Amino acid sequence: MTMGGNPANTGGAARESWPGQDVRAGARPRTRDGIGPQDWCSLFLRRCGLTFRDAQVPAMLRLIDNQMRARGITDPAAYHTLLSDEREGGIEWNELLEGVLNHETSFFRHAASFDALRSIVLPDLLNQRVRGAYLSLWSAGCSTGQEPYSLAMLALAEEDVAGRFTVWGSDVSRRVIEIARRGRYLPRALAGLPPAYQQRFLREVRTERGVEFEVVDAVRERVRFMSINLLTATDFSPRHDVIFCHNVLIYFAPEAATRLLNALATRLRPGGYLLLGPGEGPGDQPLGLEPLHVPGVRGFRRTRQAGTERRP
Ligand SMILES: C[S@@+](CC[C@H](N)C(=O)[O-])C[C@H]1O[C@@H](n2cnc3c(N)ncnc32)[C@H](O)[C@@H]1O
Repeated sequence: MTMGGNPANTGGAARESWPGQDVRAGARPRTRDGIGPQDWCSLFLRRCGLTFRDAQVPAMLRLIDNQMRARGITDPAAYHTLLSDEREGGIEWNELLEGVLNHETSFFRHAASFDALRSIVLPDLLNQRVRGAYLSLWSAGCSTGQEPYSLAMLALAEEDVAGRFTVWGSDVSRRVIEIARRGRYLPRALAGLPPAYQQRFLREVRTERGVEFEVVDAVRERVRFMSINLLTATDFSPRHDVIFCHNVLIYFAPEAATRLLNALATRLRPGGYLLLGPGEGPGDQPLGLEPLHVPGVRGFRRTRQAGTERRP
């Protein structure tokens, strides 16, 4: 995984401070006390599906070492047990996770996916839609909210959607979900947002940080945010017409990515679409989905299963 805004982005060149470890490629041994790099990698894999390149392991170990010492804990085995046993959303695990997650995002980040949504996906969904029914769109791994707000802006700009939709934004990080809920961005975070959208969907506010831009209520009231771990909570309802999952699976180990992809596929309504980032996830096709043949877009559509499921 690539770690953003944290020491791991040094590319792992720094010397590791973890006692007695050899973290060269392929070598992730155990320490005398029984806890080694492999155990920590396994913990991240098991809890969140995340994987690390060998070059990133030293920084990950340094992060754990620093956090452990800051808590006054000196026994890595005890700290490993504490983190393994802590419930989902616990403070200690969340704090550690923040150090390895990459939250980079922007409005309308992968233009080709949004173009496909506007020109192919929404028209098809509107065609299928029972008159007046709400569409449900989910930004899975939404970081600070620019992606779900982009989806809501796009849907609001489409007259035929007629404002009848909900966007869900979810992320394992509570910190980014709080920022997303606030919906306020510094000018530099607006890159990628078409000027017409900026005028219509954002308003300028003066805050202690200077000039910021706040998402207008018409957009905010369309978007619901929640903090969930995609690997363990893929069964959250409702089912969706569109699932947008960009720049998330690239940090997952292949087997975790496959598991998540298949789980996301089951969260689609029949005829619904899964749009992934380019090069995202394993090469295989998720179960029950057919590929979307659009240049620059990695997308799938759930095949209809007449008689087995009904749209609400
Ligand atoms: C690089 S950001 C991508 C944001 C947005 N989708 C985009 O493409 O601009 C990846 C996000 O995925 C989230 N993430 C990573 N693993 C996750 C997991 N197991 N469950 C939920 N979110 C996760 C991270 O916290 C991070 O905010």
